[in-house]
Amino acid sequence: MTYEFLWFEGLSFPDFGFSSEVMKEACTKFVIKDEDTVMVSYPKSGTHWLIEILCLIHSKGDTKWIQSVPIWERSPWIETDLGYKLLNENERPRLLTSHLPFHLFPKSLFTSKAKVLYLMRNPKDVLVSGYYFWTTSKFSVKPESVEQYFKWFIQGNVPYGSWFEHIRGWMSMRHRENILLLSYEELQKDPRSTIEKICQFLGQKLNPEELDSVFKNSSFQVMKQNKMSNYEIAQSSDLSVDLMCLSFMFPGICGDWKNHFTVAQAEAFHKVYQEKMAGFPKDLFPWE
Ligand code: A3P
Repeated sequence: MTYEFLWFEGLSFPDFGFSSEVMKEACTKFVIKDEDTVMVSYPKSGTHWLIEILCLIHSKGDTKWIQSVPIWERSPWIETDLGYKLLNENERPRLLTSHLPFHLFPKSLFTSKAKVLYLMRNPKDVLVSGYYFWTTSKFSVKPESVEQYFKWFIQGNVPYGSWFEHIRGWMSMRHRENILLLSYEELQKDPRSTIEKICQFLGQKLNPEELDSVFKNSSFQVMKQNKMSNYEIAQSSDLSVDLMCLSFMFPGICGDWKNHFTVAQAEAFHKVYQEKMAGFPKDLFPWE
C-alpha cells in the first residue's frame, strides 16, 4: 500500500490520524485555557521524552498515570483526530502537545497565560531521526534514500513542513514570560537540572525523592519498557502505528548526523542553515 501526504494550508501531514476538517477546526477554533500546559516541537525533537517528564512532574513522580494511560491520551496532539476529540472531553488543567508551526497554531494561545514549552533539537539529527522514522512508519510517504529525504527536508517537503520555518516562527514568542525554550541537547547533557528548570517554570515544587523519580522514570531505559509510552499497545489497536516504537530501540544520539551526512551534504546543510537562520543569536541554539 502506498501512502500520500494529507495537504493542509500548503503543508504536508501524515495521512493517517489526520483530516482537513479537524485540522481546520483545531487551528481556528480550539481554545487554549490559562491553566493549560502546551508542549510544542518539530517532529523527532524528543517530544515523547518531554511528555513523559511533564506527566511525571504533574503527578509528582508517581508512576501510576504513566503506567496506566497511553502517552497520546495523557498529552494529546491538538491537530490529530483523536487528540482533538480527547482534548475537548478532558477536564482541565490539561497537558497538550502539538507539532504545528506557529502560523497555524490556534490563536487563542496568544491571549492566554498558558505555559508553553518549546523543544528544539539539532536539525541535522532531526533529519536523520525523521529519515528512519518515516522510512519505517506506515502512515506517510516513504523516502527511498537518505539523499532523497535530505532534499525533501531542505525543501520543507516533509510532514509538518520546514524545520526552519517552524523554529523561526516559534522563536518570535521567545521573549514572552510564558514560554520556556528547551533543547534535546540540554536534556541529554544534564537531565536532572533540566527537569528542575522545567519544575521552576511550571511553579511545581517537588521534593528530592519526587525529582529522582521523574529523572529515573523518564530515562530511555525505563520509557522503552513502559507499554503506555513505547507504542507497543498501539500496534494491536486501531492506531496501528506500526514500528512507531522504533524510536525506542536506541536512545537518540546527539551528533548522529555525522555518521550519515556526506561532506557535501554537511556543507550544503550549513549553507542553507546560515541563510535561513541569519539574524538569530547563536547562543540560542546549543548545537551552534
Ligand atoms: P532518534 O531517532 O535520534 O533515536 P520524538 O518523540 O519527537 O518523535 O523524538 C524521537 C527521538 O527522541 C528519538 O531519537 C528517540 O530515540 C528520542 N527519545 C525518546 N525517548 C527518549 C528518552 N527517554 N531519552 C532520550 N531520548 C529519547
